[in-house]
Amino acid sequence: MEERPGDDRPQLPPPSIWPVGFAIGVAVLLVGLVVSWWVAAVGAAIALIFGFLWARDVVSGREQAHAPAAEGAIEDGAPAATPELDSPDRFPRNKFLEGATLGLGALIGALVTLPVLGAALVPGFVKQKSKPINLGPLANFKEGQYYVATFERNQKEGYISRMSAFIRNNGSTNGKPSFTCISNRCVHLGCPVQAGGPVFDKQAKTVKSGHGEVDLIPALPAAGFICPCHGGAYDQEGNRIAGPPVRALNRFEFSVVDGNLVLGDMYSVAKVDGSGANAQIHKYNLAGPGQHVDGPEQWFYPVQPPH
Ligand code: FES
Repeated sequence: MEERPGDDRPQLPPPSIWPVGFAIGVAVLLVGLVVSWWVAAVGAAIALIFGFLWARDVVSGREQAHAPAAEGAIEDGAPAATPELDSPDRFPRNKFLEGATLGLGALIGALVTLPVLGAALVPGFVKQKSKPINLGPLANFKEGQYYVATFERNQKEGYISRMSAFIRNNGSTNGKPSFTCISNRCVHLGCPVQAGGPVFDKQAKTVKSGHGEVDLIPALPAAGFICPCHGGAYDQEGNRIAGPPVRALNRFEFSVVDGNLVLGDMYSVAKVDGSGANAQIHKYNLAGPGQHVDGPEQWFYPVQPPH
């Protein structure tokens, strides 16, 4: 804007595209939080670059706003102000107080909010490895037979953390023991699914393992697994066959330690091809109930914290 003598209106910086770039970066960042970490990182980088250029423009615009006053004074024949004489205007007290108040407010705000935000958000992004669950000796699992194993997921939390898994000994493949270890949590909304067939309570036994007491009840889920809440149904491998669930039942990693069957972390499964020891499991990081893990639908869910 051209300055005229006597025109004391503030000198505004010229229009720039940096705010537009900054807004685009923020938009890409938000989309990335739903779609992919990489897109979010690109959005953050764009926002940072354009934000920096914008801030630089604003600062240099302010400096230029002071400059014409000095030039105007020279044109009018008045002596140019020396830097020393300008110094009170370059950093006036009211500006200092304004900056100090804002800075102090920001510091106090950060001290109050950051610990709370950190405690609320960080755990979701940190790999929280669950403790292995020892289900006892392999000899307790007859080959080809499903068992409903009930145990405390977290011994510190006690009874409240009791949960069940469907365990089947598939024999061995290539000399290694094979087990199917399916979670009993419906992947629709998390209700406990039940064996679609008889459960032989009278043959139940309680095994004392390195993980406390584990109840083992033989079951014959001839019709797979049924969810009583909304009619979700799964076949014997945990594949979804009916109802609102969108994927197969979650499974547990397993290992054999000193002759005992030990369950590890849970993971999600899109589907299982084949069965038993020859099953091809399409596995994914643990996802929430109702969430697609494959196909185009998976793009409609927020990205998962790393596991
Ligand atoms: S919670 Fe299982 S079908 Fe809805």
